[in-house]
Amino acid sequence: MALILAPAHPPNSPARLHALIPAAGIGSRAGTAGPKQYELLDGRLLVLHTLSAFTRVRRLASVLVVVAPGDQRLAAGEGYDVVPCGGATRAASVAAGLDELARRGASGHDWVLVHDAARCLVQPEWIEALIAACEHDTVGGLLAQPLTDTLKAEEGGRVQATLPRGGKWLAQTPQMFRLDTLRQALAQAGDAVTDEASAIEAMGLRPMLVAASGQNIKVTWPEDFALAQAVLRSRQP
Ligand code: CTP
Ligand code: MG
Repeated sequence: MALILAPAHPPNSPARLHALIPAAGIGSRAGTAGPKQYELLDGRLLVLHTLSAFTRVRRLASVLVVVAPGDQRLAAGEGYDVVPCGGATRAASVAAGLDELARRGASGHDWVLVHDAARCLVQPEWIEALIAACEHDTVGGLLAQPLTDTLKAEEGGRVQATLPRGGKWLAQTPQMFRLDTLRQALAQAGDAVTDEASAIEAMGLRPMLVAASGQNIKVTWPEDFALAQAVLRSRQP
């Protein structure tokens, strides 16, 4: 008798949502001994704070963390899996993670929410707000914040010009796009892009800007750890 294997996700079924968390960087600006995603905040690995927000979002069908090849500091846990397919740049890590999602049966029509492991203050409600804003859109979008400071262009350490800040936004993550579109966009854009939206824009598409909280910082510099710690403490009941 012939054995017929059912496809992991039958065609024409509703799109699912997956989270992809790149965590394969070295954190060169953070001033820590090891990669910043493994620093302790409130006694817990920084990346586990990020994951705790995503695993509380019930709409997500899967959560996949991309770490560097050979990195064994993060094991799979409740509601998330870990894959050691990180690359030399963030874009390469994301592209490899998208390939892995497809390999695991995600459909090209499924949504992927890409989120920096280093944005450890993200809250489930913010992720849900992005999903609500984008899931019926044709392109997708990203959390972002309108600029509040005055914007200067620099030349030789001095102000060359003051740029109009109206209509300018700071891009955050998560950024939510269809799996196939994002794979194609990243393949065309190459390794230099620092977010998914810019790869999508390069295809002539216009991602939706979804207003976000200024607390959704990317821990980048040494002083950011104390700030993140203070915000986490302020949330404790
Ligand atoms: N990242 C990744 N693979 C890389 C580079 C970055 O998965 N080759 C991840 C980081 O782990 C981080 C996110 O992408 O969660 C955002 O990148 P960034 O804040 O720039 O982290 P790092 O590249 O690690 O830090 P730095 O640029 O200071 O070296
Ligand atoms: Mg980096």
